[in-house]
Amino acid sequence: MKAVGLYKYLAIHEANSLLDLELPKPSPAGREILVRVQAIAVNPVDTKMRAPQDKVEESPRILGWDAAGVVEDVGQDVSLFRPGDEVFYAGSFIRPGCNCEFHLVDERIAGGKPESLDFVHAAALPLTSITAWEALFDRLGIDPDGADHARHLLVIGGAGGVGSVAVQFAKQVADLTVTATASRPESQTWCRELGADYIINHYLDIPAQVNELGIDGYDYILCLNDTDEHWQAMAAVIVPQGRICSIVETAALVDLGALKSKSATFAWEFMFTRSMYETDDMIEQHRLLDRVAALVDEGKIRTTVNRVLEPINAKNLKTAHAEIESHHTIGKIVLNGWGTA
Ligand SMILES: NC(=O)c1ccc[n+]([C@@H]2O[C@H](COP(=O)([O-])OP(=O)(O)OC[C@H]3O[C@@H](n4cnc5c(N)ncnc54)[C@H](OP(=O)(O)O)[C@@H]3O)[C@@H](O)[C@H]2O)c1
Repeated sequence: MKAVGLYKYLAIHEANSLLDLELPKPSPAGREILVRVQAIAVNPVDTKMRAPQDKVEESPRILGWDAAGVVEDVGQDVSLFRPGDEVFYAGSFIRPGCNCEFHLVDERIAGGKPESLDFVHAAALPLTSITAWEALFDRLGIDPDGADHARHLLVIGGAGGVGSVAVQFAKQVADLTVTATASRPESQTWCRELGADYIINHYLDIPAQVNELGIDGYDYILCLNDTDEHWQAMAAVIVPQGRICSIVETAALVDLGALKSKSATFAWEFMFTRSMYETDDMIEQHRLLDRVAALVDEGKIRTTVNRVLEPINAKNLKTAHAEIESHHTIGKIVLNGWGTA
């Protein structure tokens, strides 16, 4: 089967940073499904995993944690899917990624592809949807049925992959009042189109801009970029007893003391936790993806694809990685099909 992978961890412009490979087709066992991958999306985790280091792999490392495709075969314990089913999923951080023609994934973390979307538009959604859903509804404790209607949420990094679904979930599912941050006219327009009520710029003084909007503070803050840089601003604009969730690791220790007088809660979200530790509730990600697919098919949530490259090969994947490393992509970059050669 075709695959794209690496032996050495190199800067993306290096000739061998990503390579076109031919690998054996794997076979499913237990609760694994074997998926014929039709489209993949690219995430910052791919570029972080590829970041330059001295290590050299003996067998190729395959990256990629967003795919849509067709179930080709199933392990003996699979009960949720059968061959021919169309699926979308992110996969597991501690297993080979999906930048390959045939990929194994545990059925408990895959969902049925939205029927109204093709593979390209479906592949954009799984990783960011799982992240945004778990962050908003599990970590921040927002009611997914609208009981927190009109409460204020600040999304830092609203136009990125995760922000693009988080803003939609917050508006269309939870019915919150959403402020999103975006620094450029095109990313600001994108956030407005996804439903954000207010836009502020993450490179300017956040508390001052919130004050200008006349907002007294945020019940919830979702930090999707540079937790270190935004920490003090978040502490300033969270309401007493409010909740903050970040998905981005910090370079320095965070000053939890800054939240004490407000009794504010801080929570991490890592969307690979359930699959990495094989938690008892791992199947929640299957249910979550099915719920997202239903929301898409009902027309409540839209895909976040903003650029499509064809086919899936090292050259196009290098283009996508380089764009992600610019830190200014809007929505998602998707690669489609394996070409004919
Ligand atoms: N913990 C988890 O489970 C998890 C899951 C997914 C992603 N992540 C991490 O979360 C981060 C975001 O992921 P993503 O896929 O949304 O990234 P992305 O699509 O690459 O994000 C790009 C966006 O970031 C915005 N941005 C750039 N600098 C910023 C800053 N200093 N403050 C706020 N926003 C800024 C840009 O907006 P402008 O162009 O308007 O400046 C751009 O729209 C990455 O670090 C990723 O590794 C973690």
